[in-house]
Amino acid sequence: MLITTCGNSNALAKQVVRQLNAQKRKARYSPLTISHFPDRDLYLKFNTEVKGQTVVIIQSFQPKPDQSLLRVLFAAYTAKDLGAKKVILVAPYLAYMRQDARFNPGEAVSSKIVGSLLSKACDRIITFDPHIHRYKSIRDVFSCAASRLTANGLMADYIGRKFKNNVVIIGPDWESYQWAEHIAKKIGAPVTIFRKKRLSSYKVQVRMVAPVPLKGKKAIIVDDIISTGHTMVEAAKQLRKAGVKSISAVCVHPLFVGKALQKMRKAGISHVVSTNCIEHHTNKIDVSGMVVEELEKER
Ligand code: R5P
Repeated sequence: MLITTCGNSNALAKQVVRQLNAQKRKARYSPLTISHFPDRDLYLKFNTEVKGQTVVIIQSFQPKPDQSLLRVLFAAYTAKDLGAKKVILVAPYLAYMRQDARFNPGEAVSSKIVGSLLSKACDRIITFDPHIHRYKSIRDVFSCAASRLTANGLMADYIGRKFKNNVVIIGPDWESYQWAEHIAKKIGAPVTIFRKKRLSSYKVQVRMVAPVPLKGKKAIIVDDIISTGHTMVEAAKQLRKAGVKSISAVCVHPLFVGKALQKMRKAGISHVVSTNCIEHHTNKIDVSGMVVEELEKER
């Protein structure tokens, strides 16, 4: 098995190789040469024998989603062209999934387009918690084999270990129920799901619709994505009003656009924790073991 990346997720890829080799599975990491011609055309080159190999491209689509997409397509097509037995894309964070419907006339349904491009280039796609709430199944996005993993078990373990008792789990919008309810059940904590109204990319309103006792509690807001941080900030406002003792945020995909983290800290969120689906200094939850388990099924 040949493991490579397209610029993001290098640490995760190396960790996966170490774990596979520790289990006496033969895997090797081989970086690609990626550069640009003077006119900015992309140049990409494999530096090892690809023929007959299962090529695994581990690439989070953040930062730089457009660049990631093009690099992954080049890498996947080149691997096939060079005789790879199989091309597997592990995209711990897959960009463009949030536009999973035509919300306004004339809009591109980005998830369908990206899904179709990747399905043509790869034999299998493995991803974590894709934001495809308006599709019934990942099969509606990808026509190749696809596995949708969730980090919610790992998040529950982390929260259970770190915060122990007096915890209340908060889902900041209806879409977050799948993480919030699973985590709360696993650690035996109360949970409430807020309602969110999105007014624009940078403005949301959040309110509590199913009150639970919050005074003096350690509130943990869980979500799949933190992008601008406004969802977290507005949820934190409600929690402060209700008299919680502390507020923490745990997410799968730490996008942290612009000054998201600073805004969240200013809103009173004292701990911010994420998985390494996107490399960031808040990464405390490691998904490499789950990637390894999936790749083992290939043998
Ligand atoms: C939306 O449904 C997602 O689950 C997140 O709540 C959203 O992407 C967060 O965006 P932002 O951080 O910009 O409020």
